[in-house]
Amino acid sequence: MTADTSQSASVTAAPVIRTAGLTMDYGRVVALHDLTVEIDAGVTGLVGANGAGKSTLIKILLGLQTPTSGTAQVLGHDIATADDEIRRVIGYMPEHDCLPPDVNASEFVVHLARMSGLPAAAARERAADILRLVGLDEERYRLLGGYSTGMKQRAKLAQALVHDPALVFLDEPTNGLDPASRLEMLSLVRRIGSDFGIPVLVTSHLLGELEKISDHVVILDGGHLLRSSATSQFLDATGSLLVEVLGGAAERDLLGNALAAAGLSCRPRGQLVTIDPPPDGLDVHRLVRDTVADLELALVRIQADQGHLEDVFTQGAHHV
Ligand SMILES: Nc1ncnc2c1ncn2[C@@H]1O[C@H](COP(=O)(O)OP(=O)(O)O)[C@@H](O)[C@H]1O
Ligand SMILES: [Mg+2]
Repeated sequence: MTADTSQSASVTAAPVIRTAGLTMDYGRVVALHDLTVEIDAGVTGLVGANGAGKSTLIKILLGLQTPTSGTAQVLGHDIATADDEIRRVIGYMPEHDCLPPDVNASEFVVHLARMSGLPAAAARERAADILRLVGLDEERYRLLGGYSTGMKQRAKLAQALVHDPALVFLDEPTNGLDPASRLEMLSLVRRIGSDFGIPVLVTSHLLGELEKISDHVVILDGGHLLRSSATSQFLDATGSLLVEVLGGAAERDLLGNALAAAGLSCRPRGQLVTIDPPPDGLDVHRLVRDTVADLELALVRIQADQGHLEDVFTQGAHHV
């Protein structure tokens, strides 16, 4: 009894994913270089340019590819010995199309639910719930082959969730989506992490979109770990902010000048004002809101600067 309790406590405290010295050498390309990283519960954004090694890492963690060297554990299971068990408990949304064109979404998701062991009635119910969750209620009886990219991404997400996974890997879930569907997909990903409490590893080449929904961000650059930190730290350390107010250049400059007078370093970018990372302890959001109100301007948005992925890369490219 005592032994059981201490064991379950240590399992809970263990990271969801742990890699040590993971290297994937494809011959012509080394996709991962000696990657050592730990990923905890919550939503983790795995960010990097195309070719950075994101999909390779996910496939290795799923046991779909064998690393050249190094080790990894997923939910306490070793990838070298327990890949069946890992695949059983993980939901995986692959980057590329994996949907059979000649069945409808309902049949497809019910089928996968049955394969995961649910009886027919429960599988139908579960599939209907999941399809509703991802927003494919109306279209679920249409053939997958006729789906738009946005609908395919939702169907791919549904198949990753239907067996009630203990962890999900979402590889570029916002790929090919228009801005509105992109935001819906991101908020779904956030809900999987916060409402359902399922740890999520989600990839994108856009840091700006993942930093909004991730508790933690891991950045890969050419197969190297560039950075792994809590999103809050990450924004504090490197983040510029973008502020938009209603109107044109005159309103933008009014705000920019007032913020500069208040001690912030900022400059115009298009219709927006970019604010450099502020001194420690300064509540920039509050300062911006107060300044906007004092000037009787209308705030459209304050957000982390999506453009700073490149900044992080140039600042951090010291490993080559
Ligand atoms: N099966 C493979 N065989 C050879 N090279 C590969 C293979 N898969 C990926 N690569 C190469 O490994 C690098 C990382 O790819 P990938 O993991 O797909 O990156 P990302 O998902 O970040 O775009 C790229 O240079 C890619 O061309
Ligand atoms: Mg990829």
